[in-house]
Amino acid sequence: MTATSPIEKLGQALRQQTLVRIIEQFGAEHPDSHLKDLVIDEAGPGRAIVVNGRRVINFGSDSFLGLDQDPRVQEAVRRGLQRWGTHNGSSRAFASVRANIEAERKLAEWLGVESVLILPSVMLANLGAIPGLVGRQDAIALDEQAHSSMQEAAKIARANGTKVATFAHSDPGALERTLAGLRPYRCGLVCLDGVYSMSGRIPPMVELNTVARAGDAVLYIDDAHGTGVLGNQGRGTVLEALGSYDNTFVVGSLSKAFSCAGGFIGCPEPFHRLLKIRCAPYVFGGPVVPSYLEAVGTVIDILRSDEYPALRARLDAAIGRLTRGLTELGLVVMGGATPIVSVLVGDESKTLDAGKFLFDRGYYVQSVLFPAVPYHAGVLRIQCNANHDAAAIEGLVHAFSALARTLALPGPAGSSPAAALDRR
Ligand SMILES: Cc1ncc(COP(=O)(O)O)c(C=O)c1O
Repeated sequence: MTATSPIEKLGQALRQQTLVRIIEQFGAEHPDSHLKDLVIDEAGPGRAIVVNGRRVINFGSDSFLGLDQDPRVQEAVRRGLQRWGTHNGSSRAFASVRANIEAERKLAEWLGVESVLILPSVMLANLGAIPGLVGRQDAIALDEQAHSSMQEAAKIARANGTKVATFAHSDPGALERTLAGLRPYRCGLVCLDGVYSMSGRIPPMVELNTVARAGDAVLYIDDAHGTGVLGNQGRGTVLEALGSYDNTFVVGSLSKAFSCAGGFIGCPEPFHRLLKIRCAPYVFGGPVVPSYLEAVGTVIDILRSDEYPALRARLDAAIGRLTRGLTELGLVVMGGATPIVSVLVGDESKTLDAGKFLFDRGYYVQSVLFPAVPYHAGVLRIQCNANHDAAAIEGLVHAFSALARTLALPGPAGSSPAAALDRR
């Protein structure tokens, strides 16, 4: 059908776009097994959710420590609501509630950085801070597998005149060559993830930092998946690997293990003020809802308490039980260093069918397809939480066993797409 109005033409043009075509095609070919855009009608107790009238155990939540269901965290949100109302209705460039300042102070103290700036999400933190930190005379070197938020941020920086180039994933030699190729520049910013959520791999930060320093560049590490769940007291991967934040901006999430809302940038003190001025989402957008900021301090108290090792041990037990069970089934299991464990399926249709098979048996895991993973390297991505009990994990492994008997799944020898995924 020929489009007539400008808005119809726009819609028609968008439907021709490659990503839209791929996603729409998967949806059309697999109306029953697609399991995307799900609507959750009930959440809890524990990790139970009700979707499409079916109660399933949710293995697709980033609330790794299960703190979204913790009465103390919920009470803090209620307290914040009573104290601050539903929203403070202003950009932070004008005013911040005291809870925001307190949350930043506590985060900085816990993390061991001089200062922290909170934004409504990690996506917005990256979109604001990366172009905000550099200018026309500067350069960005971006890991080819850095999170999409940093890829998009680099596009904004490039449009502002900053030189941008990517380097081969987690390869210090490639970073050195990329920085050399970007010369001349005043300052460089090297953007990478603290932990790559598709593979669970942690980059060689010491080596990357050595190269960055030698090349007049600062590391910018998005540790969204490490925050609260990796490292001593859940401080993440950066301090654990580098021992200090001397040459690093570190970004963390308040929406994953923290189970609150938002993202933050840890930085040296002077950058707190500089980022407030240069970070467009900070100036031109709204803040995290105050009630969630009240809960950030409660979560930090838990992370710094004697309870944290027990919480981590429960999570580790769940991850261990799951990876052992899946490996014993002869499946290709990736991850284990973080609470994200992926099982290779391969073919896109088969990955969707496999996700539906598990869903029908009471377990929701995410079917992840190209372009989030390489073509024909579809995976079932399982997020372990500390409040998944042994019965839930064993039940999921049992469902995988039935799946492996129904659908031929790749074995440990793997295929080349699996090897490609493992490199991500
Ligand atoms: C590395 C990384 N950065 C950023 C994000 C986005 O975080 P947010 O939901 O806070 O925008 C994610 C989400 O999964 C992520 O894995």
